[in-house]
Amino acid sequence: MANICVVGGAGYVGLTTGACFADLGNTVVCLDKNADRIENLKRGIMPIFEPGLEEMVVRNYEAGRLRFTASYDDALEKSDFAFIAVDTPSDLDGGADLDRLREAATSIAQAMRRPLVIVNKSTVPVGAGDLVATIVETNRVGDVPFWVVSNPEFLREGSAIRDCLNPDRIILGASEEAAAGRVAELYRSLHAPILVTDLRTAEMIKYAANSFLATKISFINEIAAICERLGADVTEVARGMGLDARIGAAYLDAGLGWGGSCFPKDVRALEYMGATNGCHPQLLRAVMDINRDARRRLVQKIREAVGGSLTGQKVGVLGLSFKPNTDDMRDAPALTVIHQLQNEGAVVAAYDPVATRNAERLLPNVQLVSTPYDVARDADAIAILTEWNEFRQLDLSRLRDAMRQPIIVDGRNIYDPKRLADLGFYYVSVGRLTPAVRLPAVV
Ligand code: UDX
Repeated sequence: MANICVVGGAGYVGLTTGACFADLGNTVVCLDKNADRIENLKRGIMPIFEPGLEEMVVRNYEAGRLRFTASYDDALEKSDFAFIAVDTPSDLDGGADLDRLREAATSIAQAMRRPLVIVNKSTVPVGAGDLVATIVETNRVGDVPFWVVSNPEFLREGSAIRDCLNPDRIILGASEEAAAGRVAELYRSLHAPILVTDLRTAEMIKYAANSFLATKISFINEIAAICERLGADVTEVARGMGLDARIGAAYLDAGLGWGGSCFPKDVRALEYMGATNGCHPQLLRAVMDINRDARRRLVQKIREAVGGSLTGQKVGVLGLSFKPNTDDMRDAPALTVIHQLQNEGAVVAAYDPVATRNAERLLPNVQLVSTPYDVARDADAIAILTEWNEFRQLDLSRLRDAMRQPIIVDGRNIYDPKRLADLGFYYVSVGRLTPAVRLPAVV
């Protein structure tokens, strides 16, 4: 079993990685410069909402396999591996801001006193592994040996633990195969295929994979827009496409498009890397454009459903997080949609099962209520922006009776249009027949 340090260990990827490696029997120290988060973690208070994480952290902490610190000297004293899982946010022009990565590499270099495999898990621009190597080389004390390995992370929020312990594949990029081999050992018990490449290729795999998934979603959203006009049902179209093994069913849910902490940042960054290196990444630009459109089109549907103007209309919103099972609102479609509704004069009340604390900060002018039925009270329309399971089980008659007019605009296709029509709703969704649309005749 190995001694592992995780830098950025109180963040999403870092804490999940640390907890999972500890659960596999390693001795792990999660290091974070956010001392408040570290103190809270020692008391069992999680910095994020993630199903199963708290239980795993507490269990391994109590077993002595997982600990927390804000000190590099402390964290690296016994570690053989230092995983870097720091944020690499977008900078103003779409590139990745590498300040935290540079800071982590510098601090590791200054504190390491024994041979160390430095493993980068953060999504970093192609070439950043070389940058880490240069920084460590320049700042290390004496000539302590070190190796840099790229090991991109593919976990999803909401299923982070499961993804971490059941990966489709492990990607390892390194200039020396022996270093990749040592990291591969850490993953051996997961029985996942391991692909070893050079550093830059591994870094590129992460961007290409995320951008491809975002492309699939934008593709189906474009199909959805055409389906609406022609009277086809995009959910069935996606099912029919997905049964083709060459296409696959995943990431073909039409709706409000992609948000969150990864896809928006990674597609932008890949487009930026291409554009600033003499390429013409036109597909990636279209993928982003279609994604913006999905949000605009939903507002348009709400506007049309309430009669053409949003001024003074009360819109109830169900769901604020960028997807279900997380409280994360980074680049959530709900933010764009709600701001646009408010800009056009609508009054917005909203409910989300877990994102309310984040919403208080991000949406100060929205009335945040504590049940879905409160959202319906005197509403002119309800907009569904996140497909939380609990919304599928609502008492729709009760919802309807509380509303001023029974209009639901569903950005996530969670209801059966026929059932909603039978209940007396004017129901508009994505890529499925809208009640008022007259189909074009084929001549
Ligand atoms: C993503 C990648 O999946 C993961 O591998 C990477 O490590 C981080 O980024 P995450 O951001 O947690 O994970 O969310 P994911 O479940 O992939 O969904 C991303 C966005 O796409 C969400 O906004 C979701 O609502 C949207 N989505 C997803 C769709 O609109 N339709 C789909 O069919 C699938």
